[in-house]
Amino acid sequence: MSKFVPRVFSGMQPTGNLHLGNYLGAMLNWIHMQDTHECIYCVVDMHAITVWQEPKDLRRAIVDVTAAYLACGLDPRKSIIFNQSQVPEHAELAWILGCVARLGWLNRMTQFKEKAGKDKEAASIGLYTYPVLMAADIIGYHATHVPVGEDQKQHLELARDIANKFNLDFAEAIKAAGFEDGQFFVAPEPYITGPATRVMSLRDGTKKMSKSDPSDLSRLNLTDDADTIAKKIRKAKTDAEPLPSEKDGLKGRPEADNLTGIYAALSGETVEKVLAQYGDGQFSVFKNALADLAVAKLGPVGGEIQRLQGDRAYVESVLKDGSERARAIAAPIVKQVREIVGFVVS
Ligand code: TYM
Repeated sequence: MSKFVPRVFSGMQPTGNLHLGNYLGAMLNWIHMQDTHECIYCVVDMHAITVWQEPKDLRRAIVDVTAAYLACGLDPRKSIIFNQSQVPEHAELAWILGCVARLGWLNRMTQFKEKAGKDKEAASIGLYTYPVLMAADIIGYHATHVPVGEDQKQHLELARDIANKFNLDFAEAIKAAGFEDGQFFVAPEPYITGPATRVMSLRDGTKKMSKSDPSDLSRLNLTDDADTIAKKIRKAKTDAEPLPSEKDGLKGRPEADNLTGIYAALSGETVEKVLAQYGDGQFSVFKNALADLAVAKLGPVGGEIQRLQGDRAYVESVLKDGSERARAIAAPIVKQVREIVGFVVS
């Protein structure tokens, strides 16, 4: 039995609209876990500035993403909802963990390679050390479970490596501080589950759905209205074959695989059941059903986001309250870290 209480931590970047990938890959699990776990959900504004953000746009995006969290069903009475920069312990712990993590570990991070592109010398140092800040976000709360999409798996493995190395490097000091088992940090478990842990672009089934794709037709934004959602699904790329009736038939057919996964995740059914219903039929029939389903599920979320965007004062009050509650957890943990590493704490 672990001595650590089960605790969930996860976050999203306030850079543009949330999209279907964020919703199906992470948000659905966030919502469910509120009923079974203590949950902390963060708007990671400090991660956002690893690439240039206009200050006025960033300020608006933080409120917009928080509005989207609430509209999707995160409940500030059940969960802590806050923005990262209002809890300075994240930055402090990231510095200390940056002295634990090894350069070779960061050099392996594929997301940095993708985001930095060809001109690595021009990338910010923050973009490079981003996964260390992410590790601090999580282990600074002794979080045990981290619900994310597939693309965050490597970062989670790094967070586990950093937690374990800290425990080993400082084993004696940790024991001296009263943790007899030598475990100060918990190595967090990734929670990557569901039929859509990697939602692909609607224009190219081999590319991840992402905010940064220049084509808006490639993604469903949570703020899209019903007509836009239906149009994007109608225009979604497919191949010439009808849908297969068995899961094996999706192999080598990325677009069919993606759309079936999206249907399954939105409806709460298994991929097998979706194929049993729509397999061997016309793609257009399936697309119409998918458009109706997506409009029914996402339409109300978009309306609620708009309503909350008109009530900035309320949204900001959620962040203020959440930040205070988050800090009450992180501050004593980071104070212990200062003592363990040998700082003079007065
Ligand atoms: P971000 O903002 O890129 O994405 C937020 C969440 O959405 C998931 N996601 C997807 N899932 C399935 N298919 C997709 N196409 C797709 N696109 C995005 C992501 O996996 C993520 O769960 N580094 C993180 C933010 C972060 C964080 C943390 C997460 C910072 N600190 C601590 C967990 C714990 C990121 O950039 O997510």
